[in-house]
Amino acid sequence: MRPSEVIRRSTDYLERHGVESPRENAEAILAQCLGTDRAGLYARREGLDQTTARRFGRALCRRCSGTPLQYITGEQQFLDLRLTVGRGVFIPRPETEGLVLAALETLEGVPDPVAVDVGTGSGAIALFLKHRRRDAQVFATDTSAEAVDLARSNARRLGLDVDVRVGNILDPIPKALRGRVSLLVSNPPYLAAGEYDSLPPEVRAEPYEALVGGTGVHRSLVLAASEWLAPSGWLVVEIGETQGREVSGAFRRASLQDVEVLPDLASRDRVVRGRLPG
Ligand SMILES: C[S@@+](CC[C@H](N)C(=O)[O-])C[C@H]1O[C@@H](n2cnc3c(N)ncnc32)[C@H](O)[C@@H]1O
Repeated sequence: MRPSEVIRRSTDYLERHGVESPRENAEAILAQCLGTDRAGLYARREGLDQTTARRFGRALCRRCSGTPLQYITGEQQFLDLRLTVGRGVFIPRPETEGLVLAALETLEGVPDPVAVDVGTGSGAIALFLKHRRRDAQVFATDTSAEAVDLARSNARRLGLDVDVRVGNILDPIPKALRGRVSLLVSNPPYLAAGEYDSLPPEVRAEPYEALVGGTGVHRSLVLAASEWLAPSGWLVVEIGETQGREVSGAFRRASLQDVEVLPDLASRDRVVRGRLPG
């Protein structure tokens, strides 16, 4: 059977099992099994050998039973970076692209900035900052050793010099950087515990600690801001859509200035940023 026919049948199969965007999923999974891209799939004339057909069948079943597509293909695009992702580590989301662009904006005109990404996961935010600002010294932390390993391996593969450390919030950051950080940025776990059970299975396939946390990490970062940020340094965080008022209130109570809540592309509150007085 030619790949185009395999795609047609597997699209039907995924659709019957309620998978969203079934054709895109079928194409991505088959391309991964054949070690090619989408164009390569449709150019190919020969059918699947037995081993590939079995591997493809197993991958389709995993997808139908709630494994995220990215854990099957092992990759996720984040702006213009292709990141390796895998089970045990949060998959970067398109919403976070807005966070990282809002964070980059705060570094305009700041020479040789120091940036820290707290809760780095696959390294998406820290790596993109370094990719865009080669003059920056970029650190990243995460409590998950699996995330730290993955972020380090993404950094190596992309040739981006980011210092990734395991630990809570800013604990692993060298104390000499206190009062010298130009940008503290984070997409922390921000779902409420009560929301967890109603998440779709493919979201629950990601680590609980990467998803659930309410505004706990936001509040720790607000407390840490005055100690770690340089004068005029920025704290930029991603939030759940109902957390704008609470998190921006915490920023103001900590005397951060120019506090604003920014929306995502769907007009939902998604980012809060504010800076230390100059
Ligand atoms: C929502 S994920 C974000 C991952 C990545 N920054 C991204 O946007 O794709 C949150 C990450 O924060 C980490 N984390 C949770 N609590 C933390 C803490 N107290 N200190 C550091 N990292 C933490 C989790 O392990 C997880 O990797």
